[in-house]
Amino acid sequence: MNLVEVKDLVVRFRTDEGIVSAVNGVSFDIAVGKTMGLVGESGCGKSVTADAIMSILPDNGWIENGSIIYNSLHEGSFNVAELGKKDKKLELVHGKEMAMIFQEPSTSFCPVYTIGNQIIEAIALHTNIPKDEQREYCIELLHKVRISNPEQRIDEYPYQLSGGMRQRAMIAMALAGSPRLLIADEPTTSLDVTVQAQILNLLLDLQQELGMSMLMINHNIGIIAETTDMVGVMYLGKIVELAPTKELLANPMHPYTRDLFRSILQVTDQKGRKLAFIEGSVPDAYNIPKGCAYHPRCGQAIDGLCDTELPVNCDISDTHRVSCHLYNKRAQ
Ligand SMILES: Nc1ncnc2c1ncn2[C@@H]1O[C@H](COP(=O)(O)OP(=O)(O)O)[C@@H](O)[C@H]1O
Ligand SMILES: [Mg+2]
Repeated sequence: MNLVEVKDLVVRFRTDEGIVSAVNGVSFDIAVGKTMGLVGESGCGKSVTADAIMSILPDNGWIENGSIIYNSLHEGSFNVAELGKKDKKLELVHGKEMAMIFQEPSTSFCPVYTIGNQIIEAIALHTNIPKDEQREYCIELLHKVRISNPEQRIDEYPYQLSGGMRQRAMIAMALAGSPRLLIADEPTTSLDVTVQAQILNLLLDLQQELGMSMLMINHNIGIIAETTDMVGVMYLGKIVELAPTKELLANPMHPYTRDLFRSILQVTDQKGRKLAFIEGSVPDAYNIPKGCAYHPRCGQAIDGLCDTELPVNCDISDTHRVSCHLYNKRAQ
């Protein structure tokens, strides 16, 4: 059973340079109790996809096409893409049914209030817990995210916490309304590797314990491979390959997916600097190459085909799909 079904999602932004499609026909499901991952280099539309699901697109952005069906236990199914800015269902989307954590805790925490104050505000907003029990519940949440001394930490300000602790506090705040979907957008990117692993383990443990679904977003395919059940590989606003994680690891098909895997084995030059493995950089969303958007960087591009025709989705199996001319019948 699916908690979320995203279909043919197109998200556009109006900018000084014109209208840009940041997400361009994205489809995937998030199964109940499972973790779906979105991976791809910076700028490919991961965050915009998440923001569309949460219905928090900035004012210059809108959903041009497609649907985001959310199957709520209590409210039945509804299409997030059709909710108006003042729809009452948005209250559900923001905290009770879905919650989101970000790379930067400062997006969630205001520096001038204690973390306790801010988490209790979320508890008041998203639960029916009586006022005199909210502090106790906050301590329980801090305990759940394995913050030591929660009775003391609750009265500390964000700056008094280490980066990892702040991230834990942000997770506690996200859990306040017992959401069924937790969207984690690069939640550990600003942390060092050891803390990163602790936070990812915490998220996976919490997901198991609470039976939540997760949408895990990361630019690092290694992290995605370790934490998800299903993966969508994104490039310039499209999912170019979608597969169960195990299957993707065993049998990556899109040249971009293979290049991403190879990029984990980063190469170091003589001066010890790390070199990115995938040559070339991601074109911006205003200059999407013709044909397959990856063709200028692809080692297997076929002249006269990949640079002119848009590849269609090929179903490799019921659960594995790839959008690449190499697998189109016509190319063979
Ligand atoms: N508010 C905005 N206005 C205009 N363009 C935007 C806005 N937010 C994001 N974009 C564009 O949408 C594309 C996808 O961005 P994003 O989803 O943030 O990428 P990422 O995969 O790194 O999360 C980028 O080209 C970005 O410049
Ligand atoms: Mg992002």
